[in-house]
Formats: sequence, C-alpha cells, structure tokens
Amino acid sequence: MSSKAWGGRFQQQPEDWVDEFNASIDFDQTLLDEDVQGSIAHATMLANQHIISQDDKDAIINGLKEIQQDFYNGKLDFKKSLEDIHLNIEHELIQRVGDAGGKLHTGRSRNDQVATDLHLYVKKEVQDIQTLIRSFQTSILNLAQSHVDTIMPGYTHLQRAQPISFAHHVMTYFWMLDRDYSRFVDSMKRIDISPLGAAALSGTTHPIDRHETQQLLGFGSVYENSLDAVSDRDYIIETLHNISLTMIHLSRFAEEIIFWSTDEAKFITLSDAFSTGSSIMPQKKNPDMAELIRGKVGRTTGHLMSMLVTLKGLPLAYNKDLQEDKEGLFDSVRTVKGSLRIFEGMLDTMTVNTDRLNKTVHQDFSNATELADYLVAKDVPFRTAHEIVGKIVYECIQQGIYLLDVPLARYQELNTNIDQDVYDYLKPENCLSRRKSYGSTGQDAVRHQLNVAKKVLNNDTL
Ligand code: ARG
Repeated sequence: MSSKAWGGRFQQQPEDWVDEFNASIDFDQTLLDEDVQGSIAHATMLANQHIISQDDKDAIINGLKEIQQDFYNGKLDFKKSLEDIHLNIEHELIQRVGDAGGKLHTGRSRNDQVATDLHLYVKKEVQDIQTLIRSFQTSILNLAQSHVDTIMPGYTHLQRAQPISFAHHVMTYFWMLDRDYSRFVDSMKRIDISPLGAAALSGTTHPIDRHETQQLLGFGSVYENSLDAVSDRDYIIETLHNISLTMIHLSRFAEEIIFWSTDEAKFITLSDAFSTGSSIMPQKKNPDMAELIRGKVGRTTGHLMSMLVTLKGLPLAYNKDLQEDKEGLFDSVRTVKGSLRIFEGMLDTMTVNTDRLNKTVHQDFSNATELADYLVAKDVPFRTAHEIVGKIVYECIQQGIYLLDVPLARYQELNTNIDQDVYDYLKPENCLSRRKSYGSTGQDAVRHQLNVAKKVLNNDTL
C-alpha cells in the first residue's frame, strides 16, 4: 500500500530519486494563491449544488486560508513525494480538517485544476505586464517631450544618413511597445477562459455548475470542450511569444543605449546608479543593465521555442509533458517584468548630451540629401543633383571639411544655380523644419506625434 493520493492500486513506492524527477513542487508553489482561489470557488460551487454540505465547505475554505497564511509565514513544509502544489495543499488540508478536505476533489481533477491555476496566473501577470509597458511608454514620452529640438544623426546601415530629432528616434520605441501592449490586450480573450469542471478529460457525472465557478473566478467564458480545456496551452505559447517580442524590442533599444553611451558616440551618459564598474580597469563605467536586458532575450526566445516543441505532436488530452509548461513561463514573466522596470529607471536617470548631439550633425554629411533636394528645387534633375553632391562630398572628405564649409565660389563652379541661401538650407535644424510630411521628423510633425501618443495613454479607460 502506497501513501500517495493515487496509491490505492500500487504495490510499490517510487524511490526518492524517482519522486524527485517527477515532482514539480519546487517551482509550481508559485501557483499557491491561484490554487487556493480555484479550490475556494470549486468548494463554494459544490456546496451551492448540494454536492457537499455547507459545513464541509466552511471547513475547506477556512483550512485553505490557514494553509495560505502558513505558507507566507514560512510554516508550510512541502514534500517532493507529494509531487506538486495541488497534492501538497490537498494533503495538508486533509491533515487539518479531516474528511471534509477529502471531499474537495469531487468533480474535478488535477488536470483542470492546474489549467485553472495557470489561466488565473497568466491573466494576472499579463495585466501586470500591461501596466509596466504603459509606465515605460510614459517615460519614453516624457523624455521625448524635452528633446523635440535636439538633433541627432539618423542612421541606416549604422552609417549616418539624415539629421533627425532625438524625440522622433526614441518615440519609435513608444510605438513598438504600443503594439506589444495591444498584443497582450488582444490575447486576453484567449486567456480569460475557465477550464474548471472539465475534470480529468471528459467532464463529470456530479451535477456541477461550471458557469458558477467561472463567475466566482472572474473568467470571461468557459471552455466549450472538456478535452480542449485540459489540453490547451496555446495561451501560454501566445504569452511567451508576446513576452519574447517585447524583450526583442527592449533589446533593440538597449543596444542603442549601449552604443550611445560609448566614448565614440557620447550621446548619453547613464546614471551611476544604473551602471557598474570593472574589477581591474578603474576608469570603466559599463552599461550592464542594458547589456543584461539585451542578453535576456536568449532565454525568453528559448522558452517560447521550448514550449512550441513540447506541444508538437502531443496527443489529447493531458500528458505529463505539460508539466514542462511552467518553469519557462515563470522565468519569462519574471524576466520581462524586471527588464521593463530596470529600463524605465535607466531611461529616467540618464543624461542626454544635447550639445554633443547637436554638434554631431555639424560634423557629418547627413545634410547631403538636403543639398540634392536644394538643386532639385532649382530644377536640376534629381539624378544629376545626386551626382553633383556626391562629387562635392568626395572633395570635402579629401579636404577634411563639411558641406557648410564649402566656399560659395566652389559651389557655383559646380552649378550656377547655387546661391548664398544654400548655407541656411543646409543647417540641420532647417533640414528638420522643412519636413512637414505626416509622421516625419520635422519639429511640428513630432509635436503632433507626441500629442497622439498622449491621447493613446489617456484613452486606456475608454
Ligand atoms: N503537476 C502537474 C502539472 O503541472 C499537475 C497535473 C497532474 N496531472 C496528472 N494527471 N498527473 O502538469
């Protein structure tokens, strides 16, 4: 005879090292609150349906609340031989309240129980992630608002391309994160579903009310199919994907922060509070937080791949493979929440080296397209203009000067249409102000963009 919850038909116990391999209690204790919440709803419904007595329900609920309290006071001792959080809690409950505790599992199985816990957990965490994304977007918007007129080189191929507003550059991340936010919002309808009462796979003969537990747990709907209810992990894959993509966006931004903080760029200076030093090189100040965020994309992408492969070819309904859904999920959730918080702190405390940024665009050829456009305005075909400007740029590189340093006489040798007004035309701030097209980097267009972004943040409750 075995001491396990399922021990009736067993003649032999697994040895400790087998229990160890089988157990998930080390990590699924993360689901304790959700497990207690799910059990309270189930017990309440069982009593309302006259499947258990009101007294048994009260005993169960009080016992569960005590267990929860003891867990947070460090007084609960989990056992690997009891496998997981579900059996550990049930065992503890039976110890405390006797037979009433043994009635809790009527009309349910660990299969719908674990699925319920996971739905509750993912729902709560996705809401938290959404809040953190909004907060980070607010920081980006605040930063952008102070830098509409700060000019920096915009890049393609990581080569200087055209002058842009610093605000415009950082707002790109606002919009990326906005898409992430909306992906999480959209996923909610596939997360917010109650599997409880699907039992092991086929439903139950007890007169349970699945809609009651759905309402008690605050779920938007119930699974229509009991097999689907216990086998579905799509919402976990979807969440892992949404987290991975958010992390990929953060890693792109982190890479820019790392580059901007180099001695070569000096576009920003990170706060000491978000940097670290070197154990050997006394002068070093390293952007470790940004590097860690960039590096953590490895694990979030890995967890997504891992869950996709776990689900591939898995027959219906529950299989123990599904126990593998938790560690990666918990880690990805922790990682994205930590990364969003750290990034926000790093952004709020960094210094934008405005003078340095404004100077950089005077020491490059990012206004070359403007010169070509200037010629086009004087009726020179664009291809000819491109050729002329290319030649001037080549000459400047030979002489170590920039387009604003070229004497008017030389310009006029190349094209008689070039006048004194070319110097004003080529100033980086004018390169921006001439850009009036919607969504462009022109100061007015950026100000409009910031207003739209403000509305996006304010419209949340609409
Ligand atoms: N620890 C298990 C898991 O996380 C709970 C469900 C176990 N169900 C079962 N039939 N063995 O997936």
